Amino acid sequence: MNKKLILIGPPGAGKGTIADLLIEKFNFTHISTGNSLRIVAEEQSELGIKVKTIMNEGGLLPDEIVDEIIKEALSKEDAKDSFILDGYPRHVGQAEKLIDWVKIDEVVVVDMKDEDIIERLNGRRTCPKCGASYHIVNIPPKVEGICDFCGTKLIKRADEDKIKHRLDVYHKETEPVIEFLKNKGIRIQKVPGDFDVKTQKEWMGNLIVYNQE
Ligand code: AP5
Ligand code: MG
Repeated sequence: MNKKLILIGPPGAGKGTIADLLIEKFNFTHISTGNSLRIVAEEQSELGIKVKTIMNEGGLLPDEIVDEIIKEALSKEDAKDSFILDGYPRHVGQAEKLIDWVKIDEVVVVDMKDEDIIERLNGRRTCPKCGASYHIVNIPPKVEGICDFCGTKLIKRADEDKIKHRLDVYHKETEPVIEFLKNKGIRIQKVPGDFDVKTQKEWMGNLIVYNQE
């Protein structure tokens, strides 16, 4: 599937989960700034400590750190023809840079109400090693508390308590990116974040195949 997609949506709306569905079905390359930054945050270095502190508070990292991660990911062979970008751009300044670096085919906006997100995130469990995301009721792992893919013990993410602040940052900084990209002539699609996963899978599959023609 040769498509370059951006996934935009509030924290906890299901971007990572939808990216996993699309990768399974269409073999996209997943570029997730959040997952890459969580790896940097584990480093015992000045940079690692800085990244960890800001992420745990639910704020945005400075562009000079995030842009390096994105530029490196975009320059790789596996991102040459298609990718799903999850977590970038997060404000209009990043969007301006991105469309200079690469041609984006479309934007998929994952839509969900703040109050539903807050409730759902209480049940999220994440793999600290490979970034896979689960829900204790909706999308449980095969063995309780253990990642299906790499066998690592699942955790609650450290920024989970800051969800209200992360939602505020999303509405103020990231939501305007949708209008900005629309005005640049990029197609915008919406997918409900609260569909059950089976329906979401069908919906996303049809949406992507349909737009391929
Ligand atoms: P990031 O990791 O991108 O986090 P986020 O945007 O806050 O989003 P999440 O990963 O929390 O949620 P998600 O939408 O992926 O939902 P998920 O699929 O897990 O960024 C983290 C931090 O990094 C930022 O706060 C910032 O500090 C920094 N950062 C990143 N990019 C940056 C940038 N460009 N510039 C500056 N700083 C940056 O789903 C949530 C839960 O719901 C799971 O439990 C899941 O199993 C469940 N679920 C999902 N879909 C369904 C469904 N359909 N039905 C039932 N349950 C479902
Ligand atoms: Mg995510």
